[in-house]
Amino acid sequence: MKYVIINGSPRRKNTWKMVEQAKMNLKGDFEEIHLMKEKIPMCNGCYKCIMESEEKCPHNDIVKLIVDRMMEADGIIIASPVYAMNVTALLKNFFDHTAYFYHRPDFFTKKALVVVSTAGAGHKKVANYIDETLRHWGVNKVYKIAMACGGKDSLETKQIDEVSKKFAADVESGKMHSPKFMDIVFFDVWKAMAVSSNPIKADEEFWHKKDLINHDFSPEVKLNPFKKLFSKLMFLIMKKVMK
Ligand SMILES: Cc1cc2nc3c(=O)[nH]c(=O)nc-3n(C[C@H](O)[C@H](O)[C@H](O)COP(=O)(O)O)c2cc1C
Repeated sequence: MKYVIINGSPRRKNTWKMVEQAKMNLKGDFEEIHLMKEKIPMCNGCYKCIMESEEKCPHNDIVKLIVDRMMEADGIIIASPVYAMNVTALLKNFFDHTAYFYHRPDFFTKKALVVVSTAGAGHKKVANYIDETLRHWGVNKVYKIAMACGGKDSLETKQIDEVSKKFAADVESGKMHSPKFMDIVFFDVWKAMAVSSNPIKADEEFWHKKDLINHDFSPEVKLNPFKKLFSKLMFLIMKKVMK
């Protein structure tokens, strides 16, 4: 198995210790990306990634290397401490550079583990935010470890071990989970946008190239008949809304 770790902390301390503990339960190769070292300039809001192509991003030379590592991985680990009740600016800046994945989700066969540490507050909220972002990207299943480390010298490893073992077993199984209803709604929102009368060209190209426009969800992920019907109805509604 291949795992990529995106570390959004500027240092290797509390959050990193949690990642190291989780790694003990995973078998495979690890690629570590420390965003602090990557030095991605701030997203300048040029919209080129969303409107034209991610390759037009002025920082594509750095961002593409990280995205390629994620594409090659079976499991993606995203780690961040809580900073001012949110993810760190390092991780948020990476998410801003990859916001085009909201329009063009491309991680349907991937599983992810979110690792968040805090002094005392905000860990669940921040883990949920990362989870939401990854699900917009299409990630099939997200596991979460969120922990308050304030004032503690040693890690409470029980939660880390339990969750990371489940994550490892799931990655190794290769099993695809049925999407949640909200994931189907988002799929149909972007699909409807891609086939609208005035689509964003990059989205239109992507949805056609991947043949997602002819499916109720990514073909790699099976839907039961009820969810298929739900997706078809959602798509019709979204197409009307887009008009
Ligand atoms: C700039 C900054 C902002 C922080 N904001 C919060 C916060 O809003 N709530 C909180 O409980 N802890 C906050 N903390 C504490 C960190 O989340 C906590 O110490 C975390 O475990 C640090 O992880 P690290 O060792 O991987 O850097 C903040 C720390 C820093 C440096």
